[in-house]
Amino acid sequence: MSERCLKTKAVLTAMPKRVLILASGNGSNFEAIVKYFQGKGLDVAFELLCDKKDAYVFKRAKKLGVPSYFVEFESLYDFLNARKGKYNLYVLAGFMRILPEKILKICAGSGKFYTDAGCCNIVNIHPSLLPKFKGKDAIKRAFEAKEKKTGVTVHFVNRNVDSGWIIEQKSFDTKGLSFTQFEDSIHKIEHKMYPEIIENLLFKKRVLILGGGARENALAANICNSPYLEKLYLAGANDGFKHLGETVDFTGYKELLEKSLALKIDLLVVGAENPLCEGIADIFAAKGIKVIGANKAWARLEGSKSFAKEFMLKNGIKTADYKIIDYSAGENRAAFDDAFNYFLKKAAVPVIKADGLALGKGVCIAENINDAKLAASEFLAGKFGSASKKILLEERLFGREVSVISLWDGKTLASFPPASDYKRLLDGNNGVNTGGMGAYAPSNISARERNQIKKYLKTLEMALLEEKADFCGVVYSGLILTKDGVQVLEYNMRFGDPECQVLLELLENDLLSVFLAMTQKRLFDVDLKFRRKKAYCLVLASDGYPESPKKGAEIFGLNEAAKFGCKLYFAGVKALPGVVLRNFNPNHADKKMPVNENTKKLSGLDRETFENLLTNGGRVLNIVKSGSDDKKTLDDIYKAAQVISFDGKIYRKDIGKC
Ligand code: GRF
Repeated sequence: MSERCLKTKAVLTAMPKRVLILASGNGSNFEAIVKYFQGKGLDVAFELLCDKKDAYVFKRAKKLGVPSYFVEFESLYDFLNARKGKYNLYVLAGFMRILPEKILKICAGSGKFYTDAGCCNIVNIHPSLLPKFKGKDAIKRAFEAKEKKTGVTVHFVNRNVDSGWIIEQKSFDTKGLSFTQFEDSIHKIEHKMYPEIIENLLFKKRVLILGGGARENALAANICNSPYLEKLYLAGANDGFKHLGETVDFTGYKELLEKSLALKIDLLVVGAENPLCEGIADIFAAKGIKVIGANKAWARLEGSKSFAKEFMLKNGIKTADYKIIDYSAGENRAAFDDAFNYFLKKAAVPVIKADGLALGKGVCIAENINDAKLAASEFLAGKFGSASKKILLEERLFGREVSVISLWDGKTLASFPPASDYKRLLDGNNGVNTGGMGAYAPSNISARERNQIKKYLKTLEMALLEEKADFCGVVYSGLILTKDGVQVLEYNMRFGDPECQVLLELLENDLLSVFLAMTQKRLFDVDLKFRRKKAYCLVLASDGYPESPKKGAEIFGLNEAAKFGCKLYFAGVKALPGVVLRNFNPNHADKKMPVNENTKKLSGLDRETFENLLTNGGRVLNIVKSGSDDKKTLDDIYKAAQVISFDGKIYRKDIGKC
């Protein structure tokens, strides 16, 4: 880059952001916003526009040193047109007018930022949980309607009253509140939430997702719709979803870090366990890049079964009784015999588990003690390398298994609804263990089980607090619902695959906004909200999976499958050699517009990219759908599964049915 170019770039990035706040009255939101930015020392220049001559907001502007303009509504178009392109964001804060389309278009700057869902440069705050109580006197009407829950909505603005795409909502329980308390609670939330959202909209983030499976496809498809995203980057994405961002090639974490620094990545989202156990979060955090994913120390909850057991025992978390046999410093027959004798005395056949990571294969459930001893000997002899030089003998538990995925930011644990996955290859839960052949959420569990899980999660949160677990990431509890209550089978430190795919289908919040709150240790502030629907995921795999899946078969029927309203997420696929994906566009994320529920699906259903894919692994792709009619949802998924064809296609026929 020439010196001149560099200088120009420096000047551009140093330019303050400009924000025009439009208000009509009191201006308490105006004041909260300006004070927030002044307090943080952020380089944002505010101006105020008001359409009421004597409004109190002018006094606030004067006090805060913000330039202000009185502009009657009739002159608003001319005023804004004369300043076209001057502002990064227009903020409505108690502006009592509906903006006509011609004004929305001026503010949009160029047409591409304006859709029916709204103009992504104009935001409004509304004192109710939209779509309830649109329009005037929303607080009063919600109070009079005796709403049990109310709250605040921040949304993009379109030509209809309070109808644009919702960015965030925050709610509270109204029980026992007088009208004044009710109103005060709303204003308190507004003054906290609006400035934070405005900050995220002004300083959008560059996000890198690491990993190439269907889980990462789902994460990317979700994040690329976020209003807080500046640009999405993908490291290791497969050809089925790499068009959602710009590819970052790398050979090791050091190179990935260097490239991330050069690209000014703000946030790394890590999909799989290996990078976490190898310390990628520490490497990136040391250079100031925020990470969603546990640090090396806490990734041991997944990377070392014995560490996880110690953590549970220390913190009163129920788990199966166990003994450790450690051959990492050489053979130790005495420990071997002691451990087995312990279980012999209990007349129990222990489950054998490798201490370290073994690609999900390091567990053996033997039927008799001799088989258990044989498996233990094989493990200890290095069946899974150093990962099985240390093993656990574990009491076998009986019951239904459910997975609970939680987010943790160092202070707060927030959980998704329980999800169930189908680990076995064949119908009726027969056949070998796999990475997962399907999933659904929320799990079908009783109210009693739900309460037990809730209690367990509280204990887990206290344990993480007590141990000062200072990381920002995911804790996946593999639970078993035994007759003696909930017990923990294992921890993973990542989103489960395919559980992630169904859980994101239920999540109402913007995922990136949740991640950003986590990096600021503000998870306590986030209400995770879930759609009251059931989501299902069916995995299409390739014959020979999991041992030696067939590869290289062309996949047909993807576009047709999309007609059933399902999302497709890709795992073991690659593009035909020599084929450039037709709509491959590294700037895809930049070009996105505010989207509503109808267009939001686009990122998961970008039809043009669905051609020319070959199978390239065991789990080929996922078909995901949610709905309130379970039968219809599953029918659509299975119709899609039938029209997709490739040589060697296999899948379970009983997802959601057993
Ligand atoms: C707020 O309640 C806001 O939600 C609504 O108008 C009110 C403005 O209050 N759009 P103030 O002028 O910011 O005090």
